[in-house]
Amino acid sequence: MTGPLVCNRKGPLRGAVEVPGDKSISHRSLLFGALATGETRVTGLLEAEDVRSTRRAVEALGAEVTEEGREIVVRPPAALREPGDVIDCGNSGTSLRLLTGILAGVPGVSILTGDASLRRRPVRRVIDPLRRMGADLSARDGDRLPPVVARGRPLRGVRHALEVASAQVKSACLLAGLLADGETTVAEPERSRDHTERMLRGMGVPVRVDGLEVTVAPARPRGGRVDVPGDISSAAFFLCAAAALPGSQVTVRHLGVNPTRTGLLDALRAMGADVEIANERELAGEPRADVTVRAAELRGTELRGAIIPRLIDELPVVMVMATQARGRTVIRDAKELRVKESDRLAAMGETLARAGAKIELFEDGCAIDGPTPLRGVEVKTRLDHRIAMSMAIAQLFTDGDDVVLDDVGCVATSFPSFFALLDGLAGGAR
Ligand code: S3P
Repeated sequence: MTGPLVCNRKGPLRGAVEVPGDKSISHRSLLFGALATGETRVTGLLEAEDVRSTRRAVEALGAEVTEEGREIVVRPPAALREPGDVIDCGNSGTSLRLLTGILAGVPGVSILTGDASLRRRPVRRVIDPLRRMGADLSARDGDRLPPVVARGRPLRGVRHALEVASAQVKSACLLAGLLADGETTVAEPERSRDHTERMLRGMGVPVRVDGLEVTVAPARPRGGRVDVPGDISSAAFFLCAAAALPGSQVTVRHLGVNPTRTGLLDALRAMGADVEIANERELAGEPRADVTVRAAELRGTELRGAIIPRLIDELPVVMVMATQARGRTVIRDAKELRVKESDRLAAMGETLARAGAKIELFEDGCAIDGPTPLRGVEVKTRLDHRIAMSMAIAQLFTDGDDVVLDDVGCVATSFPSFFALLDGLAGGAR
């Protein structure tokens, strides 16, 4: 589905769904599988454009990726090889940042680029730390923006103290560390998602975690099995809508509930939503559960500090939900939202204000006063899937108005079945 789309649905949302596989875990299963000594078998891999970008990249580096029944099988080459062409990461920041860490240590010249959104996103945050490991990397606009050029070199392990809590930067450094001489340590200001640590361990790599510090030594993952749980960042659209739309009840089954990703569930509870977690179990190192949210009277809350990296990708739809909560919701320490697929603070701030929300923007967040009924609005989706999906949810809080999304092609980067699942929960409306 590409081009414009008119959204006009009515709540409540009711039902049980499964959402597609976690995007972060899907990327990593392909990347770590390509670095491994043996094959990796993946079930539940996210079928979406971002993950296809990673798949094409690892194939360009010599890995073989095949579908065998319900499994995706990654067969690594003896050693990753210089790609024969520029690697196009599409819209995917995770592909580009993690591959930069890998390619810094792969002999030969590699060039990583992406679409117009990705080519506006910062890469100095990976280039600077990787250079301290001896990497030969350069990028456009004074090393600020993609394309990135990597000339693979021998790397040395160092200790990194990151300024931002970023799983992409942490993972790029740890992956370079697997190819380096000596130990590599990454210290973060707050804990970001820890899928890299869990999955590398699951593939036999010793990973030491001490508070906010993670250390690896040179190693190759051995491959193995990955079972990808549902993506909480995709489920967030339905869970937030269900919390705020009277009469709603939504269950998302087999949902990833890794504690570094469940800030949304904490925020929902703090706002007074009824959240129930059932059937919690761990498979291949990643916890999963069935999560049910029932509508309740929501109240404003304050989200800042350590919770922010635990719900960073969910904040656009949390902003939508906050327009329906009584009182003031404050989001701070979320400057990172400005360098995602779009400047999400600016995009959501401007769009929600036009839809009638009472919203004040800060450099690192916003304050939203509610509850306010929303009205129809035309939305520039800016190549940003989460802006498109958040505003499709915002439409549910209008009095039957249309929300017109100018281009929904971006939704396919993470959640191609979003509109179909939303229709099912809304009882089949358009
Ligand atoms: C991701 C990390 C986060 C997140 C992104 C996926 C990952 O970005 O926003 O969608 O898979 O490592 P940062 O590392 O920039 O915080």
